[in-house]
Amino acid sequence: MSAVSHLHPESREAELRAWWMPFTHNRMFKSAPRLIASAKGCYFTLADGRRVFDSLSGLWCSPLGHSHPRVVEAVKRQLDTLDYAPSFQMGHEGAFRLATRIAQLASRPQDRVFFVNSGSEAVDTSIKIAVAYHRARGEASRTRIIGRERGYHGVGMGGISVGGMVANRKMFAPLMIPGVDHLPHTYNPAEMRYSRGQPTWGAHLADELERLVALHDASTIAAVIVEPMQGSAGVIVPPKGYLDRLRQICSKHGILLIFDEVITGFGRLGTPFGADFVGVQPDLTTFAKAVNNATVPMGGVIVRDDIYQAFMTGPAHMIEFFHGYTYSAHPLAVAAGHATLDVMADEKLIARAAELAPVLEQKVHTLKGEPHVVDIRNIGLAAAVDLNPIEGQAGLRAIRVFERALDEGFMVRFSGETIALAPPFVSSVDEVEAMVEGLRRALRAVPA
Ligand SMILES: Cc1ncc(COP(=O)(O)O)c(C=O)c1O
Repeated sequence: MSAVSHLHPESREAELRAWWMPFTHNRMFKSAPRLIASAKGCYFTLADGRRVFDSLSGLWCSPLGHSHPRVVEAVKRQLDTLDYAPSFQMGHEGAFRLATRIAQLASRPQDRVFFVNSGSEAVDTSIKIAVAYHRARGEASRTRIIGRERGYHGVGMGGISVGGMVANRKMFAPLMIPGVDHLPHTYNPAEMRYSRGQPTWGAHLADELERLVALHDASTIAAVIVEPMQGSAGVIVPPKGYLDRLRQICSKHGILLIFDEVITGFGRLGTPFGADFVGVQPDLTTFAKAVNNATVPMGGVIVRDDIYQAFMTGPAHMIEFFHGYTYSAHPLAVAAGHATLDVMADEKLIARAAELAPVLEQKVHTLKGEPHVVDIRNIGLAAAVDLNPIEGQAGLRAIRVFERALDEGFMVRFSGETIALAPPFVSSVDEVEAMVEGLRRALRAVPA
């Protein structure tokens, strides 16, 4: 039984009252709460005892499954040795080693890593680095940041400014950073519905950046920020050649290219980073989530060495970059990071994600023709199924499918009218296939 469900409705309401939950329909949730009690491997156990498959690896962040013994052990050990260390004017050895390992995994061994505690902080940090870099080089007019429609870059003021999801922006418009513009998103159902992997249509949309350069002038633009794969908007897959073209245009105009790899970093596409999948190297890379299997909050930015070097001027006793967080490179997060990278390497989990990707692709596309389904997309070990909205009640269909899938034993993710799937890398083939079958049953059970 749920820890709270046996209570009188009034006591239950009182227990759930204080926590204003993030990105949640609070009133609907609290009238029918879904509480998680524990997690192990690919499964959550709900407070009512049901065991459900974690079809999105948490929130895209737990590719090793939950409570991996080596990660748990590493964090426990760290807790006994060094629970916290300030990172301002002091350092601890594990953080330096982890930065080196991350740069190496990204095939950028010469580059630098700045640690933060979340994807949102990573994005805001990358924007600050971009603007400050140009100023340091004497191009202080380069302050504009170009994001993309339907982009999700977290919820910091920088992230929502460059992000392109209207619901995340409209309440806060006056506070957002000025001097931002947006590229069009690349999703066009008429051209790419039910495509498998990268669509062949859409590379030309990168040329919109030339239009924005013509409009604003390159001398005012600091950076372009895009997700290699737009995860939160519903697995919007980059058209073939699109990111190459963005790269070329950025380089031509001296604009920095930021890849927001908070979802795609650490193996989700079957390659270490999304950059490896598409064969395009950005100047700055944000990461978070899977870096330490989400065991302790952590994020960061990988920074091209010469960008770092541009800050390394002035007297050596001066702080070069006035930025950082109390918990940057928290020892527990660092310990979890080392253990996560160890497990990924020893168990060849990134290759495992690549092996599972065609299994997911083949299986998820069998949902074509099922009730409510209007599109299916996939890339790496990620897929999305778009649903036909209930007239006048946007989003409700996906909620119903989500609830029904939970009853079937699968915790999927819904966002708008999209169901997203991104199972842990340690899933078996049977589990991936069963997940899709569970979704099929849920789709069939939800009324037209
Ligand atoms: C691409 C991207 N950037 C940034 C974020 C924000 O990360 P966080 O929720 O850790 O702040 C997310 C979260 O899903 C994301 O997908």
